[in-house]
Amino acid sequence: MATTGAAVGLGNIWKFPYIAGENGGGAFVLMYLLCIVLLGIPIMIAEVMLGRRARENPIHAMLKNSRDAGASKAWAFIGAMGVACGMMILMYYSVVAGWSLEYVWQSMQGSYMDKSATEVAAGFGVLASNPERQLLWHSLFLLLTAIIVGLGVTRGIGTAVDNLMPLLFVLLLVLLGYSIRNGNFELGFNFLFNADFSKLTGDAILIAMGHAFFTLSLGMGTVMVYGSYMPKNSSIPRAVLAVAFLDTIIALIAGLIIFPLVFASGLEPGSGPGLLFETLPIAFSGMWNGSIFGTVFFILVSIAALSSSISLIEPGIAWLEKTGISRLFATCGLGLICWLGGVASIYSSAVFDTLDYATANVMLPLGGLLIAIFVGWKMGYTRVRKEISDIPALLFNIMFITLRFIAPIGVIIIFAHSLGFIA
Ligand code: TRP
Repeated sequence: MATTGAAVGLGNIWKFPYIAGENGGGAFVLMYLLCIVLLGIPIMIAEVMLGRRARENPIHAMLKNSRDAGASKAWAFIGAMGVACGMMILMYYSVVAGWSLEYVWQSMQGSYMDKSATEVAAGFGVLASNPERQLLWHSLFLLLTAIIVGLGVTRGIGTAVDNLMPLLFVLLLVLLGYSIRNGNFELGFNFLFNADFSKLTGDAILIAMGHAFFTLSLGMGTVMVYGSYMPKNSSIPRAVLAVAFLDTIIALIAGLIIFPLVFASGLEPGSGPGLLFETLPIAFSGMWNGSIFGTVFFILVSIAALSSSISLIEPGIAWLEKTGISRLFATCGLGLICWLGGVASIYSSAVFDTLDYATANVMLPLGGLLIAIFVGWKMGYTRVRKEISDIPALLFNIMFITLRFIAPIGVIIIFAHSLGFIA
């Protein structure tokens, strides 16, 4: 459940619908699902296992694992890149979480109630062109993250979040009901699930893969840290399958809420990062007690974002702590760096986009590739089987072969394809 808290976040509710919209829908969604199953799940099992074996922050965990497997210490690079990558993600993640806080505020005020769909949608543009306002919310969100991480209560927060996430799920179902009744459900559904491969560019495939990693919090040590909390006798494959399943369902529901509204309101599916904030307030504005629903919904989204943001910075803090720096000092230092990065992404959309692209589409898949190679080739069959002994041999062998061959080759082919080396 705690890993679900880290996995479910803005990636599902904000990012998935908007990148699906920008990349033409159906074929992109299919690629994303394929990447979850063929790359995401096996690599996630591997990453959780590396954490559980070592019970350390990602850098020290990889030092330990490589020593144990008789491999080079250089594999700690996976952990180091992960620490940097988590910070880079947080630099724009916190800005988007700030948008969500702004919509908590607007919902409480009823700002978008009783307005036309076009007017409501235009509200996001007003926020987008107001950097001071975004700065305020970004700072507040990062401060909340830093307080929780600084106090070292991340695991305590995990349980609180686990109790709120079912509520978020219920609200998503309510919104889905609204969308089915009031949106153009048929068009929305077809957009998401009718695969037209002519729309699938090399870059779209890369983005689909990158998002599979992003949404599962994979490739940078987050699930390694969570794995390090896992009891020795619990089943890694079972936990991973549950997280991947829930995470994917939530993303698909978010898409099924948003696109019917997009088509019914004459908006553009490819309108970009504002999509969530342009469409959902339209639903709330037409709903009975919409301002209350909207307030609760955006609070829950903000909390989902908080449980993810914690997991983005925690690997770095845990590593600094291990090197002898106090938790408080580490939090202030890393928090300040993330805050500055967030300021840069507020004032420059190029910074925002580059941080997003470099982390999700390059660093996370690269981290995942290295994890697959390390576990599949360096640790070897026997060591891995010992850690994952609770599934039948046949299933394990399928998993191990996927990890050894399909996952690394898949990542490499998609990298090469997007760079134009292969058609
Ligand atoms: N998966 C989270 C989301 O979908 C974001 C996230 C948290 C993340 N920790 C991560 C992404 C680690 C990549 C790596 O919102």
